Amino acid sequence: MQTTLVIVKPDGVQRRLAGRILVRFEEKGLQIAGAKMMTIPLATAQKHYKPHEAKPFYPGLVKYMTSSPVLVVALRGKNAIAVVRKMMGATFGSKAEPGTIRGDFAISDGYNLIHGSDSEEAAAFELGLFFQPGEVQTYDMADTPWVYDTSSDLR
Ligand code: CDP
Ligand code: MG
Repeated sequence: MQTTLVIVKPDGVQRRLAGRILVRFEEKGLQIAGAKMMTIPLATAQKHYKPHEAKPFYPGLVKYMTSSPVLVVALRGKNAIAVVRKMMGATFGSKAEPGTIRGDFAISDGYNLIHGSDSEEAAAFELGLFFQPGEVQTYDMADTPWVYDTSSDLR
């Protein structure tokens, strides 16, 4: 099981797509382990996107991410990091495949609706950045035997 950080970015909230984005992950079988609305503080956005600090798009990216509220979500499930990245689609909305979130809802390359952690290290760092201890829940889902086939060792 992995837990990953998803952010419905300001454009996703403003365009009223937060629910439609989140429901895709629920339908897939991922569990909502934590969720909160927030306006990202400047220092948090800068830490979150530190790997991009030297890139030309960094100032605009930080401005975008702090411009309006976001929905921050911790999602848990088998291979959750890669599953979420695949469901998000390619970075640029104009290039993302149909069937992905960005491919279906975004045409902009910068305003691309969603963030998802890209590695185990990034997920651990980002979850710690956006959630306080105890804000990410651990709990059983009633449908786990049906979602994960707990009847065999194949799960
Ligand atoms: O979000 P993702 O991991 O797919 O892409 P990234 O390469 O980590 O870039 C982070 C974010 O910066 C993207 O999601 C875009 O919002 C933005 N970006 C941009 O505005 N212009 C670029 N050339 C690349 C990224
Ligand atoms: Mg990234």
